[in-house]
Amino acid sequence: MTATKALPVGTTMELDVGPIAHGGHCVARHDGRVIFVRHSLPGERVRARITSDNGKAFALAEAVEILTPSPDRVRPPCRFSGAGGCGGCDWQHAEPAAVRRGKATVVREQLLRLGGLSIGQLDKLGLTEDASAEALPGGPLGWRTRMRYAVDDEGRAGFHPHRSGKVLPIDDCLIATDAVRAIDVLGRTHPGLAGVDVVASSAGDRAVVVRPHAKVRADPARWPEEVAVLDGGAHPAASRRGHNRVREDAAGRRWLVHADGFWQVHPAAATALSDAVIAEVDPRPGQTALDLYCGVGLFAGALGVQVGRYGKVFAVESDRPAADNARRNLRDVPAVVVSTGGVGGWLRKNKIDKLDAVVLDPPRTGAGATVCRQLTALNPPVICYVACDPAALARDTRVLAGNGYELTSLRVFDAFPMTHHIECVAAFRPS
Ligand SMILES: C[S@@+](CC[C@H](N)C(=O)[O-])C[C@H]1O[C@@H](n2cnc3c(N)ncnc32)[C@H](O)[C@@H]1O
Repeated sequence: MTATKALPVGTTMELDVGPIAHGGHCVARHDGRVIFVRHSLPGERVRARITSDNGKAFALAEAVEILTPSPDRVRPPCRFSGAGGCGGCDWQHAEPAAVRRGKATVVREQLLRLGGLSIGQLDKLGLTEDASAEALPGGPLGWRTRMRYAVDDEGRAGFHPHRSGKVLPIDDCLIATDAVRAIDVLGRTHPGLAGVDVVASSAGDRAVVVRPHAKVRADPARWPEEVAVLDGGAHPAASRRGHNRVREDAAGRRWLVHADGFWQVHPAAATALSDAVIAEVDPRPGQTALDLYCGVGLFAGALGVQVGRYGKVFAVESDRPAADNARRNLRDVPAVVVSTGGVGGWLRKNKIDKLDAVVLDPPRTGAGATVCRQLTALNPPVICYVACDPAALARDTRVLAGNGYELTSLRVFDAFPMTHHIECVAAFRPS
């Protein structure tokens, strides 16, 4: 690619804004180049300020003045949102219904561009031009049960502005649940800490995980009596109340999760995704299934109950504490066998004669080409892929299609209102 002259950071210009793009911005063009503009909406004319440009394919900008507003524009409920503000939420300035349409547009565009699907195929999947992501119960504010705050040199908690290592101190975050806000991380100072994580679980447990700069130890006396205080690190062991796990209720069961381990942050997401997986896979008694990247066993549990005592669900997870929790969470579900280790290695070492379904829920990077090929080589009738990054899903869709598996159904969930994040449940079947 030929390098063009980079626009200096801080340059302002008027731009006509086009469609929403992946990552929480919209696409505009200037002198034939793409400029991704945050805090704008499709159809708007804005004055934008360049925030980054290396003279290559595109530049980044933020709208500093709205010259012609979109009918979907609203006043952001959060006063820390906007140009130069908090980098946490991308869509505070848009009607929630417009954000959900935008999220479906992003998934459609990724599947067209990276996934190699045609418009006809997308329309057939219901991902038409005017499709919307599905809303979860609850509104766009007050939903986030897990927060990761950064702490500045003066001990004040806040968030990073977009693509910045700085800390913007804040005194409230409106997308956090009331229970998270009541722990009041933002109302205190945290000398010696680089960050503080907060969990307020669906079963009523409260935990903070402190992440010290150096050898600063957590001081439980600084926190409310009912909050478990854990020293940060890979897997904190110490807690005032002698435990480092919280309980979560989802999909009709109770789950133990490490306070700093993976669990969906929207209180309705775990159940919604589990229900969507089961509806797609439709497991029957006696069948055999895989739950890859199983975390604490959410999908393995639902599959295991359905396949019953004569069925089998092999669940694989590389994070030892999560795998240990999965074993404990599912000790009353005899079909489930949990293995600790990487998915690629497990698939290389284990041969399964007759497989009825594969469920996978990889991290943001996706499963990757090697794992996708390993899965298609097993010839399952259905591969159900839960994805938190539509670009990774699209790349893996192309590999699966190249190895005989066609995308046959797709659901898009707005599991992270106000932000650009999306969850998809996609099913692939032999073409
Ligand atoms: C998006 S989470 C899904 C967890 C679970 N399905 C749930 O819904 O709670 C992805 C999980 O994959 C695990 N993981 C990441 N890379 C892995 C790998 N190569 N092999 C196995 N597990 C992996 C992470 O530790 C994490 O628990």
